[in-house]
Amino acid sequence: MERKKIGMAADHGGYNLRKWLTQKLQEEGYEIVDYGNTVLDTQDDYPDFVIPMATDIGNGTLSRGIAVCGSGVGACIAANKISGVRACLITDTFSAHQGVEDDDMNLICLGGRITGSYLAVELVKSFLDAEFSGLERHNRRLSKIKSLE
Ligand code: RB5
Repeated sequence: MERKKIGMAADHGGYNLRKWLTQKLQEEGYEIVDYGNTVLDTQDDYPDFVIPMATDIGNGTLSRGIAVCGSGVGACIAANKISGVRACLITDTFSAHQGVEDDDMNLICLGGRITGSYLAVELVKSFLDAEFSGLERHNRRLSKIKSLE
């Protein structure tokens, strides 16, 4: 799967951070698949953007995605409803990569009203550069989660 092709979804609470991250990732050579919202609409709802992106991650169309809402909480709750999606709200660089290495996180959620723009870039780069370890103990734990899907 194309690892330089990344999904991006945000509501009004994540609109500015989403624009900033898109620009920074494009400068790094990433292709951004935009799930909206493409305009700033203070009445929009994060599930309308996050769920289509999460669905494409769950069905294998995309390998990874970034979801931004005001806190990152709602985006995370919505994304984790989709089979095959392992989303987490991330605020520190350790979890940004360890969540991939140990837990095969495939969707990072950020709070556009919480996380500063430069930290957000570092978090996303840590997430995108990380790889799942594939270790037996991690696969064993993931299979226990997968059994619920
Ligand atoms: C929208 O105002 C806000 O509730 C949403 O962006 C997000 O923070 C939800 O978790």
